[in-house]
Amino acid sequence: MERTYLMVKPDGVQRNLAGEIISRFEKRGFKIIGLKMFKITRDLAEKHYGEHVGKPFFEPLVDFITSGPVVAMVIEGKNAISAAREMMGATDPLKAAPGTIRNSFGIDMGRNVIHGSDSPASAAREIGLFFKEEELVVYNRDLDRWIY
Ligand code: TYD
Ligand code: MG
Repeated sequence: MERTYLMVKPDGVQRNLAGEIISRFEKRGFKIIGLKMFKITRDLAEKHYGEHVGKPFFEPLVDFITSGPVVAMVIEGKNAISAAREMMGATDPLKAAPGTIRNSFGIDMGRNVIHGSDSPASAAREIGLFFKEEELVVYNRDLDRWIY
């Protein structure tokens, strides 16, 4: 089983989309093992988006991601990282496939309502950046035998 880090961005929270977005991952069959709301500090945002330092959209991106509360979660399941990326859709909502989260709720590149880790290495890094080990809950679900 794989784990990935997902985050409803400030636009998604302000637009009351957090429940809808969480619900999509629950309904798909993924197990939520961590969930919380907080405001990202500038320092944490710069670490999280470290790979984009120096790019023209970096400063606006950090301004945006720190502009209001986010809802962060860690989900667990088979191929969770790539499956979640597929459910999210392309970075530019106008290029995201129909039915994906970004296609359903976004129009503008900078306002794409959700973040999701893009590889096993970034999932491990981002989970460690935003969650303490004791905030992740290990538990069994009876329904897992109907999903797998
Ligand atoms: P990136 O990691 O490339 O996309 P993703 O979120 O799909 O992993 O970029 C991080 C965020 O930066 C992206 O969600 C939106 C923003 N961004 C821009 O505003 N302009 C751009 O040209 C790119 C590539 C990203
Ligand atoms: Mg990315």
